[in-house]
Amino acid sequence: MSTLDQSFVTNSSWKPDLFKGKVVFVTGGAGTICRVQTEALVLLGANAAILGRNPEKTVKAAKEIEALRPGAKVIGLGNVDVRDVNSLVKAAEATVNELGRIDFVIAGAAGNFLSDFNHLSSNAFKSVISIDLLGSYNTVKATFDQLRKNKGAILFVSATLHYYGVPFQLHVGAAKAGVDALSNALAVELGPLGIRSNCIAPGMIGGTEGFSRLAPPGGVPLENKIPLQRLGSTRDIAEATVYLFSPAASYVSGEIHVVDGAAWHIGGFM
Ligand code: HXC
Repeated sequence: MSTLDQSFVTNSSWKPDLFKGKVVFVTGGAGTICRVQTEALVLLGANAAILGRNPEKTVKAAKEIEALRPGAKVIGLGNVDVRDVNSLVKAAEATVNELGRIDFVIAGAAGNFLSDFNHLSSNAFKSVISIDLLGSYNTVKATFDQLRKNKGAILFVSATLHYYGVPFQLHVGAAKAGVDALSNALAVELGPLGIRSNCIAPGMIGGTEGFSRLAPPGGVPLENKIPLQRLGSTRDIAEATVYLFSPAASYVSGEIHVVDGAAWHIGGFM
C-alpha cells in the first residue's frame, strides 16, 4: 500500500517535473521508508528501479509505484542481495538497459532486530554489518560508472542510534556509524567528479517496519518525549529526500541530514 499520492505534487512546494528524465536506483525500495522515498521522486517525474531479496514483494511494489504517475516507468528487481556486489552490478546493468541511465542512488537496504550483546552471535553482528555497511558500499561500487557519467548523487539511509549508546542495537549502531563515515569520505573523494554524497538519518518514523521491530504496539508512547511532540512520518523522509536530490541542494554534500523532531539532542529515548 503506497502512502503518497498525487496530493504530494499538488500540496507541496516542489515542481511537478522536478526530476523529469532522472532515474533513481533504490536498494530496499519495497520496504516502507525507501518505498516512500521512491514514490516521491517518481511523482515528481523520475523513473526508478527498486531492488530487494523478495521477487514477488519487489515486483508488486514497483507496479504500485509506477501506477502513481501516468507515463512513469518503475522496475522491480528481485533476488538482489546487497551483500553480493555481483548481484548489484547485474541490477545496475538491467536498470541502464531498461531505463537508460542512473542519476540518483538510495542505499537503503537494512537489517535489524533487538538483541543484547550477550545473546548477539558473531554471525548475527556480521549479518547486520554486511547488509547495512558492506551493502551500502557495494551499492555505490555497482553504480559508480553511471554516477560519474551523469554527475549523480548518493543518499545513504542512516540512523541516530550511534550518536549515543543504544542498548540492544549495538550491531545497527556500529553499522550506521560506518555508513556515515563512508558517505563523508565519498563526498570528499567523489566531489571533484561532480558526485554528491549525503546521509539521511531518520528518527522514530511511525508505520515503518523498523519502528514496529523496535517499538512494538502496547509499549510506552514515545510522542511526548520528542521535542516536536510527534512521531516522524514517511512523508517527512520523502520531503527531505526530494530536497537532497534537488538542485536546491546542489552545494550540499557530506551532510548527515537528521529528520527526528530534535529527539537526539535530548538523548533519544533513553
Ligand atoms: C538475535 C538474531 C535475530 C534476533 C537473527 N539473528 N535474528 N539474533 N536476535 N532477533 C541471528 C541468527 O540467529 C543468525 O546468527 C544471524 O542473525 C543471521 O541470521 P539469518 O536469519 O541467517 O540471516 P539473514 O537471513 O541474512 O537475515 C538477516 C537479518 C534479518 C538482518 C537477521 O533480520 C533480515 O533479513 N532483516 C531484513 C529486514 C529488516 O530487518 N528490516 C528492518 C529494517 S529497519 P547465528 O549465530 O544463529 O548463525 C532498520 C532500521 C534501523 O534497519 C534504524 C533504527 C532506528
